[in-house]
Amino acid sequence: MSLDKDLLNKFINVTEKAAYGAFLHVGKGDKIAADKGAVDPMRKELNKIDIKGTIVIGEGEMDEAPMLYIGEKVGTNNGPELDIALDPLEGTNFVAKNLPNALSVMAIAEKGNLLSAPDTYMEKISIGSNLPKNLLDLDNTIEKNIKLLAEAKNTIPEKLTACLLNRPRHKKIIDELNKLKVNINFITDGDVSGAMNVIDENSPVDIYLGIGGGPEGVLAAAALACYGGQIQTRLVLNAEERKRASKLGIKDFTKKYNIDEIIKGDVMFVATGITEGDLLSGISIEKHNFKASTLALHKSSNIQKKVTNIHKK
Ligand code: FBP
Repeated sequence: MSLDKDLLNKFINVTEKAAYGAFLHVGKGDKIAADKGAVDPMRKELNKIDIKGTIVIGEGEMDEAPMLYIGEKVGTNNGPELDIALDPLEGTNFVAKNLPNALSVMAIAEKGNLLSAPDTYMEKISIGSNLPKNLLDLDNTIEKNIKLLAEAKNTIPEKLTACLLNRPRHKKIIDELNKLKVNINFITDGDVSGAMNVIDENSPVDIYLGIGGGPEGVLAAAALACYGGQIQTRLVLNAEERKRASKLGIKDFTKKYNIDEIIKGDVMFVATGITEGDLLSGISIEKHNFKASTLALHKSSNIQKKVTNIHKK
């Protein structure tokens, strides 16, 4: 079964309204207000669409998030049963500090087809399209993965570029990459677009790796699935988080998930730029209107498009 193509424009409208809501808080130093600025319109717009939607990746688990929590129902309750992963504001720091690359993001699949990951850390490794299936593995050494990738790309490690979040927890990986003379593109935040760099024609990035947010990993996987890219992930869970994960149906806490276990079947992905970014332009304001740029992907109909829409403020 495929998702109805006509839904894509409706989801584009959702992230565009959410992006504008967050944009109103750019540079104001208030991450919480910026997040709420995106959450409220996202929820309002989702509830106008004829779907029976369930949030599987959201703003948090039921007792900790007032809105768009995991398990919340959205839509008019008429129409197809869908699972939705969302991050109304990916890059709260970017908006609070007026930095590039803030996005509003959603992924949509048929019921049961998205991994329901708790809001915890996740190990990730992603590569682009046209490479042997399941080429890399989180349990390989960095050296082995880099050599496998270099070989598959018919190049040498020195000519590869890796992207990762600039965090002290990545010291060992960074040391290994330096030893292999792999080029490194550090990002300060925003690893949905970080992981998507591997499929961006304009980006030099060949591999994304390291530990980031679990929800962001599922969202990136949705985009990668539409481009034929690959990602392997594993949740990073402490004892308390294991309890939360088991409530979401996760039994094997150390399982490695390949892309087709994170995203099953058809999927849509929409991301709208809030601040100017590598992937998309940010919101721009006209007298009575705002302009929003969105990347919209639909796996089964092979849609990969960037659109710009004008909305009334
Ligand atoms: P928020 O938008 O929720 O602030 O997340 C930003 C982000 O950079 C994610 O893209 C990334 O997955 C995560 O934070 C990394 O977490 P940490 O900052 O704790 O390393």
